[in-house]
Amino acid sequence: MSGRDKQRWLQMWHKQQTGEFHQTRVNKYLARFWPALDIARGNRVFVPLCGKSLDMIWLAEQGCDVIGVELSPIAVAAFFRENHLRVSKRRMGAFTLWRHANISILCGDYFALTRAELGHIDTVYDRAALTALPEDIRILYVAHLQHLIAATTHVFLLTIEDEAAARIDEEVVSLYAGEFDIRVEFIDSVDGAEEYKVYRLKRR
Ligand SMILES: C[S@@+](CC[C@H](N)C(=O)[O-])C[C@H]1O[C@@H](n2cnc3c(N)ncnc32)[C@H](O)[C@@H]1O
Repeated sequence: MSGRDKQRWLQMWHKQQTGEFHQTRVNKYLARFWPALDIARGNRVFVPLCGKSLDMIWLAEQGCDVIGVELSPIAVAAFFRENHLRVSKRRMGAFTLWRHANISILCGDYFALTRAELGHIDTVYDRAALTALPEDIRILYVAHLQHLIAATTHVFLLTIEDEAAARIDEEVVSLYAGEFDIRVEFIDSVDGAEEYKVYRLKRR
């Protein structure tokens, strides 16, 4: 990922231009389809490119140990402040680890994250992470994800396809089919203009 891409995200947080992606409620597809995954309490859930998503609060309430990674310290600080969570902070290699109870966020560049820093992961929750990246970077994102997670780790992926982001489903297949069985759990069409898909990816 180029320095310019990173600067763009940091600037977006700095100028509070997050209305396009930040959701002020828990994602409805997460709340509806996650329970069927039957994930045991205490499982570790990785939320790449987590922003200040309230989905992390919901996942923690389900008993998961949540670990996000986010580039912008403004986003991370806002997440803990807006949810009234007291936080501890410590350096961890190139990252700062922010933590409250069973929610941790590593503040830094996803592409610099190592397996040792991340630790064991049971499930990945991807909402607006893969799809937030430029097309030429998505292949690097998936390759790095595969490097970070174990052979038994599943991915729960939410995508939106509209005219601007057409063919995302073909891309998901081309990026993940090499190592994962891909199941489309649900498709929601909104006025024929936007299509939301819920995927369950199981490592072979
Ligand atoms: C589209 S937002 C989605 C945030 C979150 N998943 C949600 O559902 O609200 C993408 C986020 O990824 C962060 N980001 C972009 N590039 C990153 C990188 N290389 N490492 C870590 N975070 C990154 C941005 O700062 C932004 O908060």
